[in-house]
Amino acid sequence: MIIAIDGPAASGKGTLGKKLAAHYGLRHLDTGLIYRAVAKALLDDGRPADDKTAAVAAAAALDPARFEPAALKAQAVGEVASVVSAIPELRAALVAFQRDFAATPPGAVLDGRDIGTVICPDADVKIFVTASPEVRAHRRALEFAASGAPMDEAAVLADIRKRDERDMGRAAAPLKQAADAHLLDTTNMDISTAIRAAIDIVEASRAGRGRD
Ligand code: CDP
Ligand code: CDP
Repeated sequence: MIIAIDGPAASGKGTLGKKLAAHYGLRHLDTGLIYRAVAKALLDDGRPADDKTAAVAAAAALDPARFEPAALKAQAVGEVASVVSAIPELRAALVAFQRDFAATPPGAVLDGRDIGTVICPDADVKIFVTASPEVRAHRRALEFAASGAPMDEAAVLADIRKRDERDMGRAAAPLKQAADAHLLDTTNMDISTAIRAAIDIVEASRAGRGRD
């Protein structure tokens, strides 16, 4: 089984992806970490975010087993990730790894921006997770505070709006809901409610397929 989860920043994709993977005994890939790792490599090397050659080279050198999520979650890294991820050559260089991950038994949950539209268009279940920008900014601000790098919530909201716009507006694999994706709006849901709703979507999709 392959489950594709897409959605904007801090909508809850990663949390749902991890929980669904554990629930169904699948592997989990947070594809945002890949773009963040490329962004961090450019930042560490003092390269501009639109340096195509450096971005593709950084992608070739990635070792997802050595990702450090805490360092990759920094606000500055997310900002550069959203610029670097608009480079078509970089996205192309990362397709095979993601598809191989999805196709490896027993199957996987992948979360990102283009999983249901580009990476796994034939996924068994597609979920598009959203929440209002204000709620997402609040969640992210709580995370930054908990990590010891607090940020003003209004600044987090401005960053999220800018990143959403960039991710939806780019030509290469823009953020958008696949035609066959189930919409899950978590604005008024706590985590456990959102997980139950996601499991309900998976179960309904499986039951539907069984009847075909
Ligand atoms: O955790 P958050 O939702 O804030 O971001 P993320 O999923 O870690 O992704 C960081 C950035 O990488 C996004 O703003 C996108 O620009 C980019 N990204 C992408 O283009 N395609 C993906 N499949 C995943 C992330
Ligand atoms: O992966 P993405 O950036 O979409 O979001 P996440 O990292 O799963 O969630 C962002 C933050 O929101 C985390 O601290 C989650 O615990 C929290 N969250 C929440 O409060 N309520 C939800 N329904 C989902 C996530």
